[in-house]
Amino acid sequence: MEEDMTENISKILSEIDTENLPVHIGIIMDGNGRWAKQRGLPRHLGHQEGMKKVVQIVEACNEIEINNLTLYAFSTENWKRPSIEVEALMNLLVVFVRKELQRLHENNVKIKILGDISKLPEVPLREVHRAVELTSDNSGMTLNIALNYGGRQEITKAVIDILTDVNKGNINIDGIDEKTISEYLYTKGQPDPDLIIRPSGELRLSNFLIYQAAYSEFWFSDVLWPDFNANHLYRAIVDYQKRNRRFGGI
Ligand code: FPP
Repeated sequence: MEEDMTENISKILSEIDTENLPVHIGIIMDGNGRWAKQRGLPRHLGHQEGMKKVVQIVEACNEIEINNLTLYAFSTENWKRPSIEVEALMNLLVVFVRKELQRLHENNVKIKILGDISKLPEVPLREVHRAVELTSDNSGMTLNIALNYGGRQEITKAVIDILTDVNKGNINIDGIDEKTISEYLYTKGQPDPDLIIRPSGELRLSNFLIYQAAYSEFWFSDVLWPDFNANHLYRAIVDYQKRNRRFGGI
């Protein structure tokens, strides 16, 4: 189904049932490269345009009081891209924090990072730490930025950390259950995503929140991330609210 995104935003907003909002939304921000290519622009300008949408979508989520938003910004596989593109993405991260952190903080947003950020270059790493520390006591929306994130890496790390704790006698093997696994993931303490959105026409999860997405609802669209806007987000939520979530029951 192709969505009519010219419709009035207040009309879509009026369709949202505020009693049945997804608590946690995950977004795979895909299509920046194709957006740039279609315009004969270098790929990094697609990412730059994509970053502007990050700001808009965070605000649109905040507006309707979504509790948790996770954005897939850089995967463990993205290091395979040409170094010029990796550098551009790292630089955008720095620009994002320097430009937007204060406003996010004023909006009571709590920033968390999912992924192994120890591998990040010095400046982006410093800025990311600054964002996390400044907002750590905020009580509004949690914004998870998945950075050098991969679901398989996350699960592998959880297994290692659990075994380490078993060896140290901190936990008992008999007590390990699904909740234990969740507690060893980067999303520890957060609810699983109710809704995962992927624009750009790709119909896959690409190693994003693979443990947490067991019962997530998916919303796909052909729109490229730099063209994604609050209308798409709200339409995804309205569609989500029409789904019959059974979690394996009847
Ligand atoms: C995928 O599009 C997008 C990325 C790998 C990067 C996403 C990053 C941003 C939107 C900007 C920075 C984000 C923050 C939070 C500051 P693609 O390049 O794979 O697109 P393609 O499939 O069309 O080539």
